[in-house]
Amino acid sequence: PVIAVLNGPNLNLLGERQPEVYGHDTLADVERRCRERADALGFDVDARQSNHEGELVTWAQELRHGAGFVVNAGAYTHTSVALRDALVLATGPLVEVHVSNVHAREPFRHHSHLSDIAAAVIVGCGVQGYEFAVEVVAARSRA
Ligand code: DQA
Repeated sequence: PVIAVLNGPNLNLLGERQPEVYGHDTLADVERRCRERADALGFDVDARQSNHEGELVTWAQELRHGAGFVVNAGAYTHTSVALRDALVLATGPLVEVHVSNVHAREPFRHHSHLSDIAAAVIVGCGVQGYEFAVEVVAARSRA
C-alpha cells in the first residue's frame, strides 16, 4: 500500500525558506524520513511537490485509491476549494500537516479548507509532523 505525501507551493524551498519559521531540513530530508517511517510500517510512499494548484488537484485525484494522504498544501490550505473537493474523494485517511503553528501566526492562516475533512491535523511540530502523519495514516488505513 502507498501513502501519498503531497506538498504544496514553496515547500520545495524548505531548509532555505524562513528557517526561523520552517527549520533547516530540506524537502528531500523530509521525504526520506517519511519513506523510512513508512517502510518500517509496511507502506510505500509516493512523495510529490508542486507550486501549481491544478497539479496538486490532479495528483489528489490520481492517488485517491491509495492508503491515504499526508498533505501540507502550504498557502493553498487557506484558499483552495478545488484541492479540498479532490481530497474529499480519497478512500483512505487524510492527515493535514503544517510545519509551523499556523494558529500563532497571521489570522489568514487560521482557517483551513482541509481540516474538517481530515482524520487528523498536525501543526507546529516542525518537519517531525510529517513522520507523525505517516504513522497516523498507516494506523488508520485499511489499504
Ligand atoms: C505552512 C503554513 C502555511 O500558512 C504557509 O502558507 C506555508 C507553510 C506550514 O507548513 O507551516 O506555505 O503550510
